[in-house]
Amino acid sequence: MKVYLDNAATTPVAPEVFEAMAPILKNDFGNPSSTHLFGRSSKAIIEHSRRGIAKHINCQPSEIVFTSGGTEADNMAMFTSVTELGVKRIVTSRIEHHAVGHTACHIQEKYSVELVYVDIDDAGNVDLEHLENILGATSQKTLVSLMHANNEIGTLLPIVEVSKICRRFGAYFHSDTVQTMGHYHFNLQELDIDFLTCAAHKFHGPKGIGFLYINNKVHSNAFIHGGAQERGLRGGTENLHGIVGLSKAMDLAYMNLEAHQKHVFALKSHMMNSLRNQFPEISFHGETSYEKSLYTVLNVCFPQTDKASMLLFTLDLKGIAASGGSACSSGSSQGSHVLQGINADPNRPNARFSFSRYTTLKEIDYTVDQVVDIFKNKVV
Ligand SMILES: Cc1ncc(COP(=O)(O)O)c(C=O)c1O
Repeated sequence: MKVYLDNAATTPVAPEVFEAMAPILKNDFGNPSSTHLFGRSSKAIIEHSRRGIAKHINCQPSEIVFTSGGTEADNMAMFTSVTELGVKRIVTSRIEHHAVGHTACHIQEKYSVELVYVDIDDAGNVDLEHLENILGATSQKTLVSLMHANNEIGTLLPIVEVSKICRRFGAYFHSDTVQTMGHYHFNLQELDIDFLTCAAHKFHGPKGIGFLYINNKVHSNAFIHGGAQERGLRGGTENLHGIVGLSKAMDLAYMNLEAHQKHVFALKSHMMNSLRNQFPEISFHGETSYEKSLYTVLNVCFPQTDKASMLLFTLDLKGIAASGGSACSSGSSQGSHVLQGINADPNRPNARFSFSRYTTLKEIDYTVDQVVDIFKNKVV
């Protein structure tokens, strides 16, 4: 049996998404910037997709800028805040995805921007009082970049509360919503935010396509130069079939969202309970309740062993794809900056299991059985 439980890394493309993309690749080859009928047809397809996506998150189509995915969108938000909007200080956390964390460090060095880390607790929750204190300490133009859901431990940011704090202190607010877009409803008429990041491959769309939501109140200039595409903000011929795939994936995600949420959270709860029954000393990294955690991610902290590094390898041999990083930074592994950031015990093996609407109860039961087998036979 092969079981794919690494959906936070990427998800399989939905068959309907493939069906929507294939004819575009085959037939619609016109360059969207060409003014002849082939080009106009491609352009119309892009704008139709953009309108569909904007409708799902209740924003204006002009607020969607297509990118090559989450990393580029994060870079675009952060770089343009500094180069175009005059931001002099970035406030972020130590458990952001590297697309934000490494970018923040690079910008700090390159542009002499101040970089400040907000405190987090051992479950990955941002200390909102500390955030207020940081923002209140100076009137320097500031960008706050905090992810909506942590991709390793699943802890959710109270994004509405943080957006209100940012507004109160006049700071720009960017949230990496790569793990939550397509998994939660967004209403950008109610959520007051400057930038949001999306990657299609996290919700059964294709890889290499995503977007940055840029609030219409933000007036930025080009991030990628050399073409007038995407209102001059991101030059380069558009990924037409990718955009269609992204749009279709979003339609499917939001068509039955509540049912998907219920199904996936039931799987997560079932796995938690089954593991607890087998291993009384087991615990979970990050928050685990439906309200405070991403329902697609479960990060398990197994009992201490001296062969912790064998866990993922052995699961892989049994046909189970999961992922994880250790809390230590010894040996060849760099370790996980997220687990280190929440002070996780480096002597306990961990694995991140992440689910999708295609995951079944049978797959979860098989995985738990195999985990029990691995520990019983002292493979780890
Ligand atoms: C939270 C988060 N941000 C950004 C990214 C990067 O997205 P992409 O792979 O589309 O560049 C990922 C992908 O793993 C992610 O989980």
